[in-house]
Amino acid sequence: MNKVKNTLFSNKPVTIDKNSLIMALESSCDETACAIVKGGREVVANVVASQIKTHEEFGGVIPEIAARMHLEAVNVVVDEAFKQAGVNGENITAFAGTVGPGLVGCLLVGMNAAKSLALAYDKPFIGINHLNAHLAANFIDTDLEPPFIALLVSGGHTQIIEMKSYSELNIIGETIDDAVGEAYDKVARLIGLPYPGGPKLDKMAQEGNPFAFNLPEGKVDGYNFSFSGLKTAVLRLVKSFDGKTLPTADICASFQECVSSTLYKKVKRAAEERGYKQVVLAGGVAANSEIRKKIFSLENEGYKVFAPQMKYCTDNASMVASAAFFFKNTFDNVDVEVFSRV
Ligand code: KG4
Ligand code: ZN
Repeated sequence: MNKVKNTLFSNKPVTIDKNSLIMALESSCDETACAIVKGGREVVANVVASQIKTHEEFGGVIPEIAARMHLEAVNVVVDEAFKQAGVNGENITAFAGTVGPGLVGCLLVGMNAAKSLALAYDKPFIGINHLNAHLAANFIDTDLEPPFIALLVSGGHTQIIEMKSYSELNIIGETIDDAVGEAYDKVARLIGLPYPGGPKLDKMAQEGNPFAFNLPEGKVDGYNFSFSGLKTAVLRLVKSFDGKTLPTADICASFQECVSSTLYKKVKRAAEERGYKQVVLAGGVAANSEIRKKIFSLENEGYKVFAPQMKYCTDNASMVASAAFFFKNTFDNVDVEVFSRV
């Protein structure tokens, strides 16, 4: 890796190599995170301040509250990251920040903090797409290199991506309605599980029978997905109990079975048809036990499978630093602005 960036003031090129330390900030939703990563793969500091407790009270993320909480936490996570790594700003090669997609008021906090650090230390600023960062979580502590096919499942996105090289990514399939994480959170709320429902639904599913209820898989062309019909089917199922005690664990297990087998079938077909030998799972929902199990079962069919370590599945800044190191399609200038959608 021999990426050369310009600094902001002196305009002298900066080489990024395997000894480079990249500090990154992430604040696209409800986690304020700062990390320092060496050579794109070795995490030397990883700090995450989660707002989940606050948003639990409201049953979801309130953007204005989230943005204010990022402001309160941002300096604290930066100081803590420097402390964990035992370095200061002079030792950092470049500063990176998530620029989108995400909540604009939230993104502004982390991105501007990263830009300010870059200006203060006269180092490059590298703007990162949040989805690329989720993919990059797979480079941490591994020897993964493109080409590969990736299944990206998060609270806001569900995509099948071909990553041919560090500069060539093609989205070949995506959801036409709800994202997987969104479907998890909505179904969890329907059956009375508190926010964020995804991990709680996953836990409850492990106690239930995955074949108790036959729920419909979304029928969509190509490598696309649809989860809104499934969500409605769960709603109908819940209503059919008419106030009687819900078999919650069985509903969770049946929902999880339906989602995970849909994802498994589509990504397997994409890998087969497009001729990839490596399959990569990414995004917050990559923490799901059954989805991990099914995708890892592709190893029995000759594929090499990667998924991020649990702590790098949901939002964190190590994945942002790793993306800044590896990806070529970054926003390497201080004028870049935040964006809410891709
Ligand atoms: O990637 P992420 O942290 O944020 C976005 O970029 O959207 O993903 C958060 C999503 C939430 O919808 C959360 O419920 C879901 O990931 N999630 C899970 C699990 N852990 C997190 N969904 C199902 N099972 C899990 N174990
Ligand atoms: Zn995310």
